[in-house]
Amino acid sequence: MALYSETVMEHFRNHRNVGVIENADGVGEVGNAKCGDIMKIYLKIDNDIITDVKFETFGCGSAIASSSMATEMIKGKPVGEALELTNKAVAEALGGLPAHKMHCSVLAEEAIKKALLDYYEKSGKDYDRSLFIDCGCCGE
Ligand code: FES
Repeated sequence: MALYSETVMEHFRNHRNVGVIENADGVGEVGNAKCGDIMKIYLKIDNDIITDVKFETFGCGSAIASSSMATEMIKGKPVGEALELTNKAVAEALGGLPAHKMHCSVLAEEAIKKALLDYYEKSGKDYDRSLFIDCGCCGE
């Protein structure tokens, strides 16, 4: 059996949403304690809807595929829904990741959460702080 699913390979080869958003409404950067790689997410938000999202990474192919999929999954969604995105849901949407590569998908989830936190803080909106309790998996 191939190590990576067709969907992982497709998102790795034709990754979506790579880049930077100038004047983003939320920016989140995290490092992965396990491998030392870095992920940065930029969000454009209008009326609590994510209208655009981009990512930059110093990460492996699994991190690129996970971020490509994760950004597609939150684009056009309300911020509350984006907050519920888990790395497991991203890995499932990719058709699975090898166990030793699951930590790569955590980068995208954590960076999105951090960018949303940045959005809430910049916009002065009320939010549930308990949603942002650090799990520590990315060494942040
Ligand atoms: Fe670092 Fe995958 S090995 S993100």
